Amino acid sequence: MILIKLGGSIITNKEKPLSPRIKTIDNIAKQLKKISEPFVIVHGGGSFGHYWSVKYDMHTKPARYDSHGVAIVKNSMIELNKIILDSLTKNKLNPYCLPPTDFMSGNKPIPSKVREIRKIAESNLIPVTFGDALWYGQKKSYILSGDKIMSILAKALRPRLSIFILNVDGLYSDLNTKRLIYDMKDDQVSIQDIPMDVTGGMTRKVEEATKISKMGLKVFFANGNKPERITNAIQKNRFEGTIFRG
Ligand code: IPE
Repeated sequence: MILIKLGGSIITNKEKPLSPRIKTIDNIAKQLKKISEPFVIVHGGGSFGHYWSVKYDMHTKPARYDSHGVAIVKNSMIELNKIILDSLTKNKLNPYCLPPTDFMSGNKPIPSKVREIRKIAESNLIPVTFGDALWYGQKKSYILSGDKIMSILAKALRPRLSIFILNVDGLYSDLNTKRLIYDMKDDQVSIQDIPMDVTGGMTRKVEEATKISKMGLKVFFANGNKPERITNAIQKNRFEGTIFRG
């Protein structure tokens, strides 16, 4: 079992609201078609959900956010999700759309529903879920990020590999020279050492990736603009990017 997160920065143009990167999504889908073992896709919000959640000042902490904001974020995620599903079906893959409300209750995963995701993945379907605005209870809502979903699913499904697909080669130890960290363990890097770009986002990815690797599971950050790196990692054990070993 493999878990794959398509980051918002690779599937959309984060600079421009509501702009999917269709060609990039298609190229990734073509590589995913080559994978012969069960896998699950999680995607982010990028210039869709992420854009609106910022506009409406919504965060991961449960609170009484603007109801219209909740509606708009959810709506935009459905729109982006449809684009991903269309690209996958066009490339002869069989996505099975699973909004996070299908396996989350409040901020807790529903164990039987999460277990079902494995069964779905093992039956020639590809479960596809995404970060979203979720109902929490007591008139509160919260943003559940795709990164967080990655650790929820990793904990329950124990994938042999979790891949975060980014718009960069991996984690840089220096943003100016773009020196890449190949192995978090060998390089003895901790979260505090990672330079964060102003657009943020990377902090949460590193936190969730670290969490998953501490479960004894392998995590890999790869550049989705070079989608063959995804299949090289899965099929050839060749990792061009940043690896977090469990
Ligand atoms: C987006 O999920 C959640 C929403 C804001 C609706 P992510 O937080 O995983 O999205 P990206 O990958 O960083 O864009």
